[in-house]
Amino acid sequence: MNTKLGTLYGLSLGPGDSDLMTRRAWQLLSGAGHWTYPVRKKNGDSYALAIALRAGFVLPENHTPLHFPMTYNSGILARYWLEAAQTVLSRLQQGEDVLFLVEGDASTYSTFGHLQRSVLALEPTVPIEIIAGVSSYHAATARCGESLADVDDTVAIVPAGYGIDQIERLLLDFDTLVLLKVKPLLDDIIDLLRRLGLLEHSFFIEKSGAPEERIVSDVASLYGQKVNYLSLLIVKNPNRPRSEIQRGCRKKKEAVDD
Ligand SMILES: C[S@@+](CC[C@H](N)C(=O)[O-])C[C@H]1O[C@@H](n2cnc3c(N)ncnc32)[C@H](O)[C@@H]1O
Repeated sequence: MNTKLGTLYGLSLGPGDSDLMTRRAWQLLSGAGHWTYPVRKKNGDSYALAIALRAGFVLPENHTPLHFPMTYNSGILARYWLEAAQTVLSRLQQGEDVLFLVEGDASTYSTFGHLQRSVLALEPTVPIEIIAGVSSYHAATARCGESLADVDDTVAIVPAGYGIDQIERLLLDFDTLVLLKVKPLLDDIIDLLRRLGLLEHSFFIEKSGAPEERIVSDVASLYGQKVNYLSLLIVKNPNRPRSEIQRGCRKKKEAVDD
């Protein structure tokens, strides 16, 4: 008899504070699923795993770190994704559920996307469930006492690696710009924000929700400093020119026009 395939869960754990974990995540961590989590180096730390352990969970015996190296070499990455997918699939084929622990939200710039695609490429019938979570930038705006968007505000969430010209262009269209992965470009971004007069409307947050969390509202003071990979910038753009916005639903407008 064929064993029923287990389910692969993209298990969002929130940004770092166990109080920001959902009840569903808590429930799954308390169950019998096999824990997997991303590591950058063999035997390296996992931020996602640390969130679960900080919440008081004990690392179960059945757990497997999955190695995803920090490289942009697509050939190397494809090899590691395939290896991770094969490891996960062999568990699923034995009928085990597999939890892939993710920092923040699993559908937002997460390694889970790669894992999901790689597993489905090997076995398209694998059941997948993504458990939504609090993203780093939702937690960050809350911690900074800011709103992500008000009324008709426009918001963009982008990896800073698109570069300074692109960031400047986005600021023409968005009231709030969330810049992820700012570490390599931080000084250049600070120069840009100074030139545009937006430094005083910007916030930096590192390891939001973790005990080492750092919130910096004097963003210029970070110039020349090394920051952690887990850091982001929220830029509010109060001077953005607004265009007309259509209010109400179409039907009502047509009725008035008639
Ligand atoms: C690969 S993305 C992961 C995003 C994550 N899935 C989320 O929902 O927030 C990594 C980037 O997200 C941001 N990030 C993730 N966790 C963070 C945290 N706890 N504090 C600040 N920034 C974080 C950083 O910009 C980091 O470079």
